[in-house]
Parts: sequence; C-alpha cells; structure tokens
Amino acid sequence: MRKTMFEYKPPQDLLKNKTILITGASDGIGRACANSFADHGATVILLSRTQPKLEQVYDEIEARHPGRVIIQPLDLRTAVSEDFKLLADSIDEQFGCLDGLLHNAALLGARNPIEFYPDEDWKNLMQVNVNAPFLLTKVLLPVLSRATDGRLLFTASSVGRQGRAYWGGYGVSKFAIEGLMQTLADELQDTTSIRVNSINPGGTRTAMRREAYPAEDPNTQPEPEALMPVYLYIMGPEGSGFHGQAIDVRGFTGAMQ
Ligand SMILES: NC(=O)c1ccc[n+]([C@@H]2O[C@H](COP(=O)([O-])OP(=O)(O)OC[C@H]3O[C@@H](n4cnc5c(N)ncnc54)[C@H](OP(=O)(O)O)[C@@H]3O)[C@@H](O)[C@H]2O)c1
Repeated sequence: MRKTMFEYKPPQDLLKNKTILITGASDGIGRACANSFADHGATVILLSRTQPKLEQVYDEIEARHPGRVIIQPLDLRTAVSEDFKLLADSIDEQFGCLDGLLHNAALLGARNPIEFYPDEDWKNLMQVNVNAPFLLTKVLLPVLSRATDGRLLFTASSVGRQGRAYWGGYGVSKFAIEGLMQTLADELQDTTSIRVNSINPGGTRTAMRREAYPAEDPNTQPEPEALMPVYLYIMGPEGSGFHGQAIDVRGFTGAMQ
C-alpha cells in the first residue's frame, strides 16, 4: 500500500530571514525546494551546473520575491577546493551566516552489475555525490555555525540504505552520504546548533527518475512539489528536534521515525 504524504500547512513566513543554499536547484526536487523555501520567506542561493536552467529558476523566484534569490553556476564534477572556498567566502561576506544547506545535486550513472561497472561513471559519481558535499560542507561549517538554528540536510536514497543489485556507484555514493551525515551529526551534536539529517525523497517525477525507469508511466510518481511539506518542516523551527536521522518522505509524520 502506498504511504500517504505528510500533511503540513506551514506559515507563509516559516523561513523568514533565513538564507539557504540548495545544490541541484535548477531542476526536479532542488528546483521545487528553491521555489518553496523562497515562498516561505527564505533568501535562496541556487547552485547547479547549467547556467540557462539556473537563470530560468532565478526568473521564476525573482518575479515573486525580488532580491531574495542568487544563482551560483558550478559544475560539482570539476569543481576544486578553491571554488568551494570562494563560494563560502562570498556567502560569509554577503550574509555573515548561513541558516541552511541542502545537498541535493546528484548523478545517477550507469545501472550495471559491479563487474561491468564503468570506471569513469564510478569516479564521477563519487565526485558529484560524495566529494562535493564533503568539500562544500567543510568550508561552510563556520558560516553555518553562526546561524542560531542551522540545518544541514543530505539527500539519501533507499538504495543507499539497503544495497540493491545494479545500482552500482549511485547506491554506494548514497551509503557514503549517510555515513557523512552520521559522522557530522555526532561531531556537531553538542558544539553547535546545526541539526544534521538525511532525507530520502522516494520515487519522484523528475529527469533522474525517468533516466532510472524509462518504461515507467511518470504519472505514477508524485511531483516534487508534493514533497515540500517534509522539506519545509525539517528546514523550519519544528525540525530542530531531528538530528542524525535518516528521514523518509514517504510515511513521515513529524515524529521521529
Ligand atoms: N527522483 C527520484 O525519484 C529520487 C529518489 C531518491 C533520491 N533522489 C535524490 O534526490 C536528489 C534530486 O534528484 P532529482 O530527481 O530532482 O534529480 P534531477 O531532476 O536529475 O536534478 C538533478 C539536479 O542536480 C544537478 N546536478 C547534476 N550534476 C551536477 C553537477 N555536476 N554539478 C552541479 N549540479 C549538478 C542538476 O543540474 P543541471 O540541471 O544543471 O543538470 C539538477 O539541478 C538527488 O540527490 C537524487 O539522488 C531522487
């Protein structure tokens, strides 16, 4: 039986005065988060690799919330430590603190048995899905620590919680993300107010889902907008009770899972 979606009607100013960086904000779930966080009061910094797509999301948000959206084109596959440092310095200079960081960008890569898995795909997946969140988190921790109620949210997948044949580098990269989340949650538990969690959106009608399941009728999956109540809840003040948790959008009730 399909699990029901969390029902939550957040106040319009839930994220007022918050600054939130979202990776992979040009499409799919990241784009929905960018729009939804901005609609609930946040200033959003949108990072992705394809500038024209980012500009489209910028236009959407800027039209409704002038002055509350910034875009940062960056290819996480080729970005190096200095690129992340420049970004962190510019956020620090402009805002003095960062209230939320949503690591959402990811690659899917090949769907092959490990024996035949392409080396190049493996490397790219580890770079975009694991190394980039590590490097970005590392340079942004000082700015996140200055927020009064910070959020660090990683994007998980069910194939990164229980290994599944043919999900290769993608599944393994999502296991690594759970490990990074748990390590950070333990390190930051008592020293900062940052709450660290991972969120598994579950099957969602996006380009990545189409790539993974080309024969599937897309209408069988919810649109990214349907997931927003859970993302908003975790980013907002009620999310402060969650720390070190592997959250599933499906079946989320607002109580610890
Ligand atoms: N959709 C699902 O069913 C599902 C299920 C479980 C987990 N997830 C996870 O949810 C997250 C979002 O997935 P989605 O379905 O929304 O994916 P999507 O529609 O394919 O969007 C992926 C986003 O990541 C960006 N991105 C990819 N490679 C990048 C790179 N090298 N540098 C910078 N940005 C890059 C893309 O930018 P461009 O637009 O510029 O390419 C795009 O904005 C991912 O972490 C995914 O693993 C999704």
